[in-house]
Amino acid sequence: MIIGSGLAGLNAALEAAKHGSVVLVTKSTLHSSSSYWAQGGIAAVLNHPDTFESHSKDTIEAGREFGNLQAVEVLIREGAQAVQELIKLGMPFDKERGEFSLGLEGGHSARRIYRAGGAATGKMMIDFLISHVRNNPKITVMENTFVFDLVSENGLCTGANVYYHFEHTFDKISSSATILATGGYSGLFGRSTNPHTSTGDGLWLSNSIGCTLKDLEFIQFHPTAFYNSSGEVFLISEALRGEGAILRNSKGERFMEKFTQKELAPRDVVAREIFREIRKQDTNFVTLDLRHLDNNKFKKQFPNLINRIKKSGLNPEKDLIPVAPAAHYCIGGIETDIDGFTGIEGLYACGEVAATGVHGANRLASNSLLECLVFSKRAVIHASAKSNLRIKSSSSSDNKFLKIDESGSEVFIKIRNQIASLMNIHAGIERNEKGLKFALAELNEMQKLLEDKTQIEYYTLRTKGILMIANRIVKASILREKSLGVHYRSDSVSLYDEKLDSIRFQDEIVQKY
Ligand code: SIN
Repeated sequence: MIIGSGLAGLNAALEAAKHGSVVLVTKSTLHSSSSYWAQGGIAAVLNHPDTFESHSKDTIEAGREFGNLQAVEVLIREGAQAVQELIKLGMPFDKERGEFSLGLEGGHSARRIYRAGGAATGKMMIDFLISHVRNNPKITVMENTFVFDLVSENGLCTGANVYYHFEHTFDKISSSATILATGGYSGLFGRSTNPHTSTGDGLWLSNSIGCTLKDLEFIQFHPTAFYNSSGEVFLISEALRGEGAILRNSKGERFMEKFTQKELAPRDVVAREIFREIRKQDTNFVTLDLRHLDNNKFKKQFPNLINRIKKSGLNPEKDLIPVAPAAHYCIGGIETDIDGFTGIEGLYACGEVAATGVHGANRLASNSLLECLVFSKRAVIHASAKSNLRIKSSSSSDNKFLKIDESGSEVFIKIRNQIASLMNIHAGIERNEKGLKFALAELNEMQKLLEDKTQIEYYTLRTKGILMIANRIVKASILREKSLGVHYRSDSVSLYDEKLDSIRFQDEIVQKY
């Protein structure tokens, strides 16, 4: 069973179908995932003069040498193979005069970003894989199916209990191996580039059967998400800066000029600088300037994105585009090894929900679609090696049912909105102890509202889930007292001088590094 239908989930399903029958479960539809919304592309080294070493070095430097260097090696080398395989399968990456037109993004020292439809790479990759999934008789797709409980028997995960939204019915799905590919939790922030479904479900589901969560304080903010006063947010791909777009403050000044890589400095540096300009100028946004660029070329290169900007009433040939940072990618998640193994027999995680350590403390642009391909395949290979053994040991305990109390949906939405605002203000690009402790106290108050709700009810369960994740993000941000990568503590900016480990949560146990 694969839970989640972004790039990691779809690829895991296709890989797993080579070994047996597969159920692919998603709480929404196959087209609703942050992968589908991904614009920039997928980074890979397929040709000289670029090298694996250079891509690894960029990845490790962007990540501030924190995390798992072995995972980086795996990502870069196996990622190149995975992209090559996709090309062989017919994935239509963009070409110019018969050659792949490779993009450049922040922190990369070479043009190595494969794109499709300009800035519609996620959509085109997902559509491409969906067509393969739909045509594979070994894969059963279950949309609008919410997993509310992972079944664990004697330290073994044997499947999941699910709720079918439309039918209002329940079922238990038994599986010899379960792969979580449920994505990240950026949707918990008020400003996010992710779909609202990015609520980190895989984290609370797996934590409740003993998985460890780690690195939750590392949340990457994309520097340039569209801003307007009615709250419309969508990603304005870094690829535009790769082609020469310039950032300006409210006085029209190009404020990134002081950095060697200018607008293409690592993403955390650009996001923080924008945040500071916004505060300094007392506005809500800075602007992206495309006016000096060859607009005909741009329209051809990025048709979807340029249309989206135009739909919002702006003409990139004449207007400056308002942008501000937004929560974009979660580096933290379920701790796994480089085979996606969670430590619970039969349970794997891959893609954004997993924390392999591959991104260190700051993810290099366009490494996440790559991560999805590489680690989903590894998880399937590892899982299938032992799955015969496991299916025999699975007993058939009864289905679980959830009470559904529709009045709970109001509480869920109210608490979700409160969390979104707390996270934006106190766990955003810059954090400090005072703000984080305030946020923690507020979260504890919200938690109290649910204390008498002991019955397993759908909305209560989901509310408890998002509260738990918000609580762990804030606790981890308090515990990591100095700044590192995307985690920036404005009250203690000094750098670490010792070798660092992750902050982990297993049930209620907090292990400090
Ligand atoms: C972008 O298109 O700027 C996003 C790419 C990424 O998040 O890796």
